[in-house]
Amino acid sequence: MKPVTLTIDGVEVRAREGDNLLWVALDNGFYIPNLCAVRGANPPFASCRLCFVEVEGRDAPTTACTETVRDSMAIRLNTPRVKRLRNTAFELLLSHHHLDCRHCAKNQHCELQNIAMQLGLKLRPKRFRRIPRELPVDSSHHLFTYDPNKCVLCAKCVHVCHERGTGILDFAFKGINTAVTTLGGDPLAEAECESCLACVAVCPVGSLVAKPGVSLKEAEYTMTASA
Ligand code: FES
Repeated sequence: MKPVTLTIDGVEVRAREGDNLLWVALDNGFYIPNLCAVRGANPPFASCRLCFVEVEGRDAPTTACTETVRDSMAIRLNTPRVKRLRNTAFELLLSHHHLDCRHCAKNQHCELQNIAMQLGLKLRPKRFRRIPRELPVDSSHHLFTYDPNKCVLCAKCVHVCHERGTGILDFAFKGINTAVTTLGGDPLAEAECESCLACVAVCPVGSLVAKPGVSLKEAEYTMTASA
């Protein structure tokens, strides 16, 4: 592919034409918040709406994970419009996330905490009414637990489960009720799970977590495709 030069916040960056903008930026040390991006996923899922950037010459900000680079592109990461859009997306995500960081297995390793810290945002914003979910937690699997109340619907678990050919996880329901479930809503212990723990490895929050004593290092699956 043809080499190209673009600028990100005024800094020259080299890439290849057609490379994905989000990964070009991240690989060159620029921070763009993201929850749902998986390297190489085509098309990108683009559900979290956190990765907005401005491309010079465009009327409106665009999501970096759906954008490919071309020569002479000029990207801005922190314009007022970008901040407004991604902050709103973040607040909406948190408005129905079960926030209980102190008792969460992912505390200090949660991507929501990381994004809040990187962007200087609060984890308990006041702008939107909180509508936390009250769905049953599935602890039936001997290796991991699934808490749908902490799920951010990033689709990474669905992606890796299908990529491995198991495909027991998918989306069900619509709108605010959308949830990741097994086919037919069966408990994980009764689904045809191959116990690879790929879904646990890619979950950016505390929704899919290994049970005490279970090490992800022992899992067959190594998440190399995602940030
Ligand atoms: S990373 Fe782009 S929309 Fe989620």
